[in-house]
Amino acid sequence: MKVDVHAHFFPRLSKRHCSLLGSEDWPWLHDQGDGTGFIMTGDEQFRPVQAPLWDPAARLAEMDRTEVAVQVVSATPILFAYTADPDRARKWAELVNDLAIELCEHDPTRLRPLCQVPLQDVDAACAEASRAVAAGHVGVHIGNHVNGRNLDDPELVRFLHHCATEAIPVLVHPWDMMAGYRMPKYMLKWLVGMPAETHLAILSLILSGAFERLPPDLKLCFAHGGGNFAAQLGRVDNAWHRRDIVRADCPRPPSSYADRFSVDSAVFSHDSLQLLTAVMGVDRVMLGSDYPFPLGEIVPGNLIAEAPFLSDADKAKLHAGNAAAFFGLSLPA
Ligand code: CO
Repeated sequence: MKVDVHAHFFPRLSKRHCSLLGSEDWPWLHDQGDGTGFIMTGDEQFRPVQAPLWDPAARLAEMDRTEVAVQVVSATPILFAYTADPDRARKWAELVNDLAIELCEHDPTRLRPLCQVPLQDVDAACAEASRAVAAGHVGVHIGNHVNGRNLDDPELVRFLHHCATEAIPVLVHPWDMMAGYRMPKYMLKWLVGMPAETHLAILSLILSGAFERLPPDLKLCFAHGGGNFAAQLGRVDNAWHRRDIVRADCPRPPSSYADRFSVDSAVFSHDSLQLLTAVMGVDRVMLGSDYPFPLGEIVPGNLIAEAPFLSDADKAKLHAGNAAAFFGLSLPA
């Protein structure tokens, strides 16, 4: 049994839908009708894409082939629209979230959606998260920063508090990578930017002391194995012990907060997965593939299945059990 918690979709957005955001420069989908298409921005081809990204039948056929029982699906982060006018972004989130429900209705036991929210307006974000979860979403998918603010921003912490209060699981995905102008080539935004963004998001919550104020039952998961967090935790603990400016707002060693969140398994090597399970524990790593994008794990869960350092019971946790508990899923028989 495999549950993939990091899988993206792109809803059937037309150029006309983009007028909701006041401009036709937002991403929309051009379905060419032959199993291929393009994510468009305005009239420009932004990225070639394949039918499983938007077509639930094609997606489920691939899930059958790779033996993935359930996907927890999230929209592509380029649809967050955090820079848009808040009122327009609220309507946009409602549209994307309603289209997600529509896509998942194709097989609601196997496709479980995460909503997005207009985080530039936290009151609206709380309201939309609650509305979407009541409509069938199993959690919320947020970016790791919002208009120059990290997750320790008081308003963003207020949003996380709302999610804890309403038992809404949160998946944090990196986006809008820092210093992109220095990473124009070789997919460095993905290779350097994404792990750095995720690390920054986690450390902002730890070192600001936000975890001291957030309810311990907040369900928080970081994509891409938590980025650089596990690999650099020794460096961060060392700095906390030796420099008062590092520990100024954080009363306990950074490593002691590793039990306050989960990560996915998208790290692509056994050495990395072994470190990750050692740092996070086998209860806090969940299968995540980044399906269906080109850097995703080709057969989701193979890295876990073939890991010589994991017992069968541990593999079952990473493949499905942890995700079922985190998202409150009842798994198909
Ligand atoms: Co992703």
